[in-house]
Order: sequence, then C-alpha cells, then structure tokens
Amino acid sequence: MIKIKNIRKKYDSTEILKGIDLNVEDGKVVAIIGPSGSGKTTFLRCINHLESPDEGVISIGGSRIIAGTSQKKDILDLQRKTAFVFQNYNLFRNKTAIENVMLALTVVKKYSKKKAREIAEEMLDKVSLPRERFEYYPSSLSGGQQQRIAIARALALNPELMLLDEPTSALDPELVDGVLDVIRAVAKEGITLIVVTHELSFAAEVADEVVFMDQGEIVEKGKALEVLRRPRELRTKAFLRSIQREYSKIS
Ligand SMILES: Nc1ncnc2c1ncn2[C@@H]1O[C@H](COP(=O)(O)OP(=O)(O)OP(=O)(O)O)[C@@H](O)[C@H]1O
Ligand SMILES: [Mg+2]
Repeated sequence: MIKIKNIRKKYDSTEILKGIDLNVEDGKVVAIIGPSGSGKTTFLRCINHLESPDEGVISIGGSRIIAGTSQKKDILDLQRKTAFVFQNYNLFRNKTAIENVMLALTVVKKYSKKKAREIAEEMLDKVSLPRERFEYYPSSLSGGQQQRIAIARALALNPELMLLDEPTSALDPELVDGVLDVIRAVAKEGITLIVVTHELSFAAEVADEVVFMDQGEIVEKGKALEVLRRPRELRTKAFLRSIQREYSKIS
C-alpha cells in the first residue's frame, strides 16, 4: 500500500500543492488528470522526492518519509522503490539504448556489467524495441522507441511504484498507441502505477482510479469509469468537456 498524506509545496510564496492525500493499493493503476499548471508534475516529483515537499508523509513498502525530518539515506531508500518515466524520456544522449538501461543497473543496483546486460536485453525485449536498435543512440531513434527505452530502464529497477508523467504527450500521434500498449502490459505485471495522462480512453481502460487535480488540490477521485463518465464536481465536468472538445476538433 502506498500512502501519501497532506503533501504541501510552495514555490516562493505561491502554494502549488495544497495538502494532497492519496492512498494506492498495491498493483493498482491511478491516472491523474487535470488542467495545465494544476500541480500534477509537482505532485509526482514530490512523491519520490525529486522535489522536496514542504509538508507531508509518504509511505511506500516499508519506507516512510516525513517532509523536513527524514535523512538522506531514507530518501534514497524511497527513491530505490520508485521509478520515474518523464514526458521527454530523459535518456543519456551519449549512451546507446542498452547502455541507458544498463546504467540504472550498474550504478543503482551495483550489478556486474554482464548481469546488467542480460537484464537490459530482457527489458528491451519486453518493451518491444527491435534487437537491431539496441546499440543505437537516442538521437537516431524515434520518440516512441526512446520512451520504450525509458520504460525499460524504469522496469529494470524493479520498482514497487512507477510514476509516469504524460508519457505519450511528446510523441507523434502515430506512435502513441504503441507506447500505451507497453504501459498496459506493465500494468498487467502488477507494478503499482501513478500516471499523469490526457489519454482519457486509456485511463478509462487501464486505470482503477482516476484523480482529478485542479489548482493544487484533488477535486475528485474515484473509480475510473465513474469519474470519467459520471463526474460529480462541476470543475471535473468542465475539464472533461474541454478535453473532449479538443478531441472532436481533430477526429
Ligand atoms: N521549479 C519551479 N519553480 C517555480 N514554480 C514552479 C516550479 N515548478 C512548477 N512551478 C509552478 O507550479 C505550478 C504547477 O506546475 P506543474 O508543472 O506541477 O503543473 P502540471 O499540472 O504538471 O501542468 P502541465 O499539465 O502543463 O504539465 C505552475 O504554476 C508552475 O509554474
Ligand atoms: Mg506536468
């Protein structure tokens, strides 16, 4: 069980997260939706302390971090239980596909190169990166392939919780479905996922719960289909309508 309690974060004097609570059962998938600037990325980054929250408690599989009081060692411990997938992949440009995955294993897990390579190959197979691309550098790969590598790197760490921040929003439209398929498969493996996404049909299908954030707070959360199809709050309704309008423009 992942327990997140009363996360608060300010930048300068502006309150960006205004006390966020979220519990996620092991193996569940939570989708976070909400308008630009509502604090979704900040919240994800606070969960694994890429950003330090000002207040709040985060418990993940036996690690418990209390904002402002926890030691560096405890934070590292929490970070080892999580993996982050970024909108813009964040791969090392000067490393090949397989080296990007191996690096996570040799540096974080302290595995030998041989073992790291074996696991990296297995993970890249899992995300369906063609074998002949394993030795390519990110700049010679498509966005979809780069995001597959980033997901393979996250999987290689064997995290209890994977945090994905709009993993398909930087992709060309024709590459989105392939990467969503990979995330679907990851969800089926039973890793707990928190994913920020604008892909509502994906959220409806894969997420157990949907959380709607606006202006630094959770406005509504509940079973995915209920929030998406029968939202209770006016702000959720307005947001879903605005997204659907965007879709109808293109389809
Ligand atoms: N490092 C920072 N310093 C100052 N302000 C920040 C910083 N990071 C984020 N903010 C502000 O916090 C607010 C929330 O940003 P955040 O990136 O979390 O939103 P978001 O919901 O992820 O938006 P989007 O959908 O556009 O990605 C914004 O107003 C943003 O300008
Ligand atoms: Mg964001």
